[in-house]
Amino acid sequence: MKKIVILTGAGMSAESGISTFRDSGGLWEQHRVEDVATIEGYIRNPKLVLDFYNQRRRQLLTVKPCRGHELVAELEKNFDVTVVTQNVDDLHERAGSTKVIHLHGELMKATSSNNPNDPRQIVTLDADHVDIHIGDKAADGSQLRPFIVWFGEAVPEIERAAEETSKADVFVVIGTSLNVYPAAGLIQFAPPEAPIYLIDPKDVPWNSVHRFRHIKKGATEGMEELITLLNP
Ligand code: APR
Repeated sequence: MKKIVILTGAGMSAESGISTFRDSGGLWEQHRVEDVATIEGYIRNPKLVLDFYNQRRRQLLTVKPCRGHELVAELEKNFDVTVVTQNVDDLHERAGSTKVIHLHGELMKATSSNNPNDPRQIVTLDADHVDIHIGDKAADGSQLRPFIVWFGEAVPEIERAAEETSKADVFVVIGTSLNVYPAAGLIQFAPPEAPIYLIDPKDVPWNSVHRFRHIKKGATEGMEELITLLNP
């Protein structure tokens, strides 16, 4: 089976009703990144950050995967698919994708403030336990925090993602402005002979890579076109 690695960003979930970060009206227009998405912001005002992610978690429970998520999952019938996502939602998993690497963490998980990447500290949140409040404790007794990789923190999954990308027969990028590293750098690990497809309704400033086919459509329509190209 051919191996496909698919790097997704916020544009993948836009058609599920979750706003992107840098489009007009995006999350970063409504919030200062430094206040809600950095480790310094969390230390400075943990309640503000906990509330920001509580709101996003509550919204996630009201939306569902879009057809694009389902088409990504259906690719597994004919290909060995690994999804590497910058998204913290669980929509790829809910659509049926079985191999998902979350580079920036997972909204439906919480962890320790002292040892955020210690697997023994990670707990799963659900509809019965949506919010994290000041005073909620992790197993190690420290304040429970979102299992999210904030700006300024390590991206532990990048090594595994690079390893997977280096073995791809086909590399696909869906719905990311490629503004944030190391995620945006994954493209460099794609083998030289692997075709690269970009699905995004807008142009993306790709200064380093010129050998990609741009499917200038949204995630769902773009996936429909990609499937015809992959299964001629
Ligand atoms: N289908 C596909 N792509 C879309 C759609 C759509 N319906 N709508 C918008 N897009 C594209 C935009 O053109 C843009 O290129 O999705 C991309 C969204 O870019 P960003 O908002 O920058 O999101 P992303 O690239 O995922 O951000 C990366 O930045 O803030 C951090 O951790 C956060 O994971 C996030 C990272």
